[in-house]
Amino acid sequence: MKTEVRYFTKSGNTKLVADAIATEVGKIALPVSEPLTEYVDILFLGSSMYKFTIDKAVTDFIKENAQNIGTLVNFSTSASGKSTLKKIKKVANLYGVNVLSEEFYCFGHFWIFHKNRPDQQDLNNAKIFAIEVMRNV
Ligand SMILES: Cc1cc2nc3c(=O)[nH]c(=O)nc-3n(C[C@H](O)[C@H](O)[C@H](O)COP(=O)(O)O)c2cc1C
Repeated sequence: MKTEVRYFTKSGNTKLVADAIATEVGKIALPVSEPLTEYVDILFLGSSMYKFTIDKAVTDFIKENAQNIGTLVNFSTSASGKSTLKKIKKVANLYGVNVLSEEFYCFGHFWIFHKNRPDQQDLNNAKIFAIEVMRNV
């Protein structure tokens, strides 16, 4: 089963999760500026909330790589406790991309909030999530 990991990050929080997931699935996590070069069965896609939405780079990535995505598996960090799944699903639906209803989410450090998050526990949980996905999808 072909698997890839992509992420968008501004301050590094989502990359930490991306790297944890990538280690677990035996890949290297790459930024969304790196397009998919072939069809993948599972794409782990990491994003965050900025001003109540996802960055345009994430939207563009889904749009431009839609044909190469079997199932999109969302993971995200934010300060509010709100994941990006709804936003991702909305974009994915526009381009006919299947999105797994299960996702991984954890807090990400922002300003004075959630210092040191994601922490080791978050990263361990992300790895467990990745294992479960690979087992069940
Ligand atoms: C400019 C800016 C806007 C943000 N807006 C939100 C927001 O609307 N909702 C939220 O939950 N978190 C918000 N955050 C917090 C980020 O989602 C959080 O720090 C996240 O972990 C950042 O991930 P990154 O380090 O991968 O970029 C914002 C952060 C920044 C820098």
